This record gives sequence, C-alpha cells and structure tokens, in this order.
Amino acid sequence: MMHFLTLLTLAPLCRARNPRIIFSNDDGLGSLNLYEFYHTLNSSGYFDLLVSAPCDDKSGTASRDTSDPEGDLRTPAQGECRFNSTHGAPGKRHGHGIKTDGSEDPYLYWVNGYPATSMRLGIDNFSSDAFSRLGSNLKPELALTGINYGSNGDSTASISGTVGAARYAAKRGIPAIGFSGSFGRHVGWNDPELGGKNSDALVVAKTYAGLATSLVLQIIKAADSINGTYLPKGTLMNVNFPDATLSSTGCNDTSKFKWVLAYTKLTNVTVAPDVRQGNCSRIPTEGEVLSKDNQKKCLISVSMVNAEDLGVASVKDYTAVLESLKGWGSWACL
Ligand SMILES: *[C@@H]1O[C@H](CO)[C@@H](O)[C@H](O)[C@H]1NC(C)=O
Ligand SMILES: *[C@@H]1O[C@H](CO)[C@@H](O)[C@H](O)[C@H]1NC(C)=O
Ligand SMILES: *[C@@H]1O[C@H](CO)[C@@H](O)[C@H](O)[C@H]1NC(C)=O
Ligand SMILES: *[C@@H]1O[C@H](CO)[C@@H](O)[C@H](O)[C@H]1NC(C)=O
Ligand SMILES: *[C@@H]1O[C@H](CO)[C@@H](O)[C@H](O)[C@H]1NC(C)=O
Ligand SMILES: *[C@@H]1O[C@H](CO)[C@@H](O)[C@H](O)[C@H]1NC(C)=O
Ligand SMILES: *[C@@H]1O[C@H](CO)[C@@H](O)[C@H](O)[C@H]1NC(C)=O
Repeated sequence: MMHFLTLLTLAPLCRARNPRIIFSNDDGLGSLNLYEFYHTLNSSGYFDLLVSAPCDDKSGTASRDTSDPEGDLRTPAQGECRFNSTHGAPGKRHGHGIKTDGSEDPYLYWVNGYPATSMRLGIDNFSSDAFSRLGSNLKPELALTGINYGSNGDSTASISGTVGAARYAAKRGIPAIGFSGSFGRHVGWNDPELGGKNSDALVVAKTYAGLATSLVLQIIKAADSINGTYLPKGTLMNVNFPDATLSSTGCNDTSKFKWVLAYTKLTNVTVAPDVRQGNCSRIPTEGEVLSKDNQKKCLISVSMVNAEDLGVASVKDYTAVLESLKGWGSWACL
C-alpha cells in the first residue's frame, strides 16, 4: 500500500521538458538497486534517461578511469556481464543491456571498465544516441549513481566507485548525486529469488528508489522555479540510506525515514561546515548519522562534497542546497 502512496506523490511535474539524466553505479549494470532506481524515476515521467554502468562488480575503484577511450577489451571472454544483464560480452568493450523479454534495451549500456569510465563513455559516446529524439549531440544534465550496496560515508566515500562516477560527472560540469545504502547483499535485477529468500532485497531496492526519486524530483522542481542549477557547480551530493529491512532496522517503507544534513569526514577533513539545518545545533558526520545506534531511527545522511578534492563544500553551497530543499521532506537533528 505504501508504494501506491509513494507513487502518487511522485506524479509528473508540469515542465516544458524533463532533464536528460544519466545513471551509473559500481555494482554492475544488472544490480537490482540500480534497476529499481531508474525504473521508479522513469515511470514518474523522467524518461529521457540513459544507464551506463560497469559490466562487472567494480566496487572500491574510486575515480579510476581506463586510458583506452573506449573501455577495455574483454580478455579472456567471460560470456555474460554480472547478473546475466547482457547477451554475452566476449571480446567487446561495451554493449547494450537487456529487457525482461530478452531484447536489447537502447537506453542501457554496459562498459567493460571502471565506474568513472562508464560515466565517461555515457557522456561522450552513448548520450547522443540515447537522447537523439530530443536533438543531436545532447549530453546529460544530471548524473545519478547507485544505489550502492553498502554505505559510502566518511572515509569510504573516497574509495567508492559510486562516488567516483558521480565525481567524474561533477568535474565535467554535470550536477551529480551519489546514492548508497547500508544493505550490503548484492542482488541482480532478474534474480530468481526476488519472491523468495531475496524478497527483502526487493523491499530495500524499492524503498531506496522511492526515497531517492523523491529527492531528485524536489531538486529538479526547485531549480526550475528559480531557473537555477540543480546543484552548485563543482560539488556533488553524497546520500546514504540506513539498512531498510524489517528484521534489521524496521525501516521498511519510505514514510519511516528522516533526512539529516551531514558532512563527509575524510581523514584530511577536520572542520565541520558552519551551517545549520532547521533548529539543529550542529551538523554531524555521515558516520554519526549511520551509526549502529541510529540505524533504527531510519536516518538518511545528505552531504555536499567538493568534486575536485572530496573536501566539504562551502557554506554558500550548503545554503543553496538547503534553500532548494526547503519545505520538502521530513528532517531530523542528531
Ligand atoms: C523509460 O520510459 C520510456 C517511456 O515509457 C520507455 O520508452 C523507456 O524504454 C524507459 N527506459 C528504460 C530504461 O526503461
Ligand atoms: C545466469 O545464467 C546462468 C546460465 O544461464 C545461470 O546458471 C545463472 O544462475 C544465472 N545467474 C543469475 C544471477 O541469474
Ligand atoms: C567516444 O568518444 C571519444 C571522445 O569523443 C572518442 O575518442 C572515442 O573514439 C569514442 N568511442 C566510441 C566507441 O565512439
Ligand atoms: C528562465 O530561463 C529561460 C531561458 O534562459 C528564460 O526564457 C526565462 O525567461 C527564464 N525564466 C525566469 C523565471 O527567469
Ligand atoms: C513493513 O513492515 C510492516 C510490519 O511491521 C508490514 O506491515 C509492511 O507491509 C512492511 N512494508 C513493506 C513495504 O514491506
Ligand atoms: C525551531 O524552533 C522554534 C522556536 O523554538 C520553533 O517555533 C520552530 O517550529 C522550530 N522549527 C523547526 C523546524 O523545528
Ligand atoms: C583528501 O583525501 C582524499 C582521499 O583520501 C583525496 O582524494 C583528496 O585529494 C584529499 N584532499 C586534500 C585537500 O588533500
């Protein structure tokens, strides 16, 4: 029932044109979390989308990119990309993912390379085809990565391929958001156990997708209303969800969650940004928001990071983002 309510609040906005969106991740094109995310956003009317993700699991590869402009040649041939999301990948550098009926999906691409490489090819090579119905040589206007299996808070953010792909897009001037969740079991979009022992993974994927979509729609709506940018230039947003299973946290539907403004505390970051959300007395680290003690409170951390050095974004940039999220969502202090 909750999912019906969620979908109602995600009704398409009145806009002249929807932004062109690129999705990526580091767990592989066939990841269930990625699948539910782009499907949820796509079904809210944002269908000018393109997915370009690694063929295989490339977790932990940060911002690494391949020097080959077209990705690596697959040697030795391994047959399928992860989770059987393709029709064979031997001897190829990139190709299309498949739909449930087994036919190739023109909006899904796998790349035999790192997450940042898949983002690069998505932007440079695939977007003109994927967005061709809108015009020629169009690039994405917003980049969304994840939703990662496993948290990418604080120091983990610097090794995450999910964050690395978002960072690549942000450095190319495309506003980017990296999404991660504490639920860590990797599950494929067509896993035969989604109705059985992996049904919890399906609830998690749908819950994360609903929350992420709601945030993305608000950011788009706010930018439209002021004719502004989706996110401040040179920054990226890092979002982390707690586990979302009934047994571990009880946070099993979107209505139970609260957002918390936070910051990414890398080892070389020593000072918290001097910003406040609502009446909160301070801004916590991602690690504090995601701590064991807080998991059952269903708190989601939202941080702003400099794309260049992963440092904390400026107060001005945080303030701009708070402004665009004003009046939206349920927020909490720590
Ligand atoms: C998104 O939705 C459009 C319109 O319904 C559809 O044509 C397209 O195949 C969808 N994209 C994906 C990747 O599912
Ligand atoms: C992928 O396909 C192979 C062979 O058809 C099968 O053995 C395997 O279980 C499949 N994997 C998944 C995750 O569906
Ligand atoms: C992708 O784009 C880059 C930069 O424009 C180019 O060098 C490369 O050959 C292209 N690759 C493919 C497969 O089109
Ligand atoms: C928004 O930008 C468009 C194109 O630059 C312009 O035509 C329009 O007047 C602007 N609207 C507002 C409210 O500033
Ligand atoms: C969440 O768990 C409750 C039981 O506490 C259950 O009634 C509800 O259907 C679950 N929600 C989802 C989306 O599975
Ligand atoms: C902040 O505190 C003021 C004064 O105590 C209160 O009126 C207001 O509702 C609070 N705002 C939020 C967002 O909690
Ligand atoms: C901080 O550390 C991250 C990763 O450990 C690194 O990428 C970044 O360049 C460092 N920033 C500064 C300002 O040294």
